[in-house]
Amino acid sequence: MPDAPRTAEWAGVARLAIKHQGTNPTGSFKDLGMTVCLSEAVRLGRTVAACASTGNTSASMAAYAARAGLQAVVFVPRGSVSRAKLAQAEDFGALVMDVGGNFDEAFAMLRKAAPELDLYLVNSINPLRLEGQKTLLFEILEQRGWRAPDVIALPGGNLGNCSAIGKGLRELSALGLLDRMPSLAVVQAEGACPFHTMWRSGASELVPLAAPETRATAIRIGSPANWRRARRALELTDGMTAAVSDEEIQLAKRQLASEGIGCEPASAAAVAGVRQLRASGLISSGADVVAVLTGHQLKDTDYILESAVSGDGPEPSSRRAVRERLARWLA
Ligand code: F0G
Repeated sequence: MPDAPRTAEWAGVARLAIKHQGTNPTGSFKDLGMTVCLSEAVRLGRTVAACASTGNTSASMAAYAARAGLQAVVFVPRGSVSRAKLAQAEDFGALVMDVGGNFDEAFAMLRKAAPELDLYLVNSINPLRLEGQKTLLFEILEQRGWRAPDVIALPGGNLGNCSAIGKGLRELSALGLLDRMPSLAVVQAEGACPFHTMWRSGASELVPLAAPETRATAIRIGSPANWRRARRALELTDGMTAAVSDEEIQLAKRQLASEGIGCEPASAAAVAGVRQLRASGLISSGADVVAVLTGHQLKDTDYILESAVSGDGPEPSSRRAVRERLARWLA
């Protein structure tokens, strides 16, 4: 689990380590839960696995279903899933159904279809997904010699991952394997942050958002299924939330990239959130933070190329100097 000292300094915290999930077989954290889920599908003798997805869940399900000899079916929101993720699902032979306007609608449709069509649902309302995903926490602690960090930051969409880590923390604590309880920091995109809104306002119920919007398409979700579990996780860990703009996400992604760490936009939200939470004082300057980068850099290359072509943001002076030398030499 590498440290990112320059990004730590940029975010204003003493230490920032990166738990990268892009190195999993299909390039995201979804693989941890999917292997458990598909094993259970096989045990139950199911033949068709299905999910609604913003992309990564479908890529992962398609791979593990293919491996297990099941047919995979994916309900995706029209036009808002990265092409790379769709390509993965297609490559593994999934049936990709372009169904609804956004993830929440696709998911609602699938929940209706699943019992009627005998589809085995592998979205994170399936408890086995969370059982698998909590191993992410076990790895973090094992790799740190069982010394908990102050904060574990992660992006929040459907809030399965936060729920899984919360469950893992509860279990480790009961087993006496936690030296202290780290705080969970759930970071949502500003245009898709119903959980953050609920947590910050102290409301007792989450109000779903009808039209979530963010360029970090993986977390463009307005009605997160696991919000109750996620809230329990924040209560257990004295946790916190943040909502970051698309611009803050892009800056965090650039910062990580400048330190040689690639990830997809939704993942960079976690680091943008650390910076914002430090600035607002919810994270202290001495904090020892682990950020979970949920997906691989190549999961959304369109995002990168669109940002690069538009050329927004200041160019580092060292880069400009080399570019100008090259231009003079070529002229
Ligand atoms: N980061 C990435 C890269 C994701 O793909 C997702 C969710 C999240 C963060 C949020 O995790 O839902 O557990 O809070 N992607 C789902 C999908 C929704 O369909 O691939 P969460």
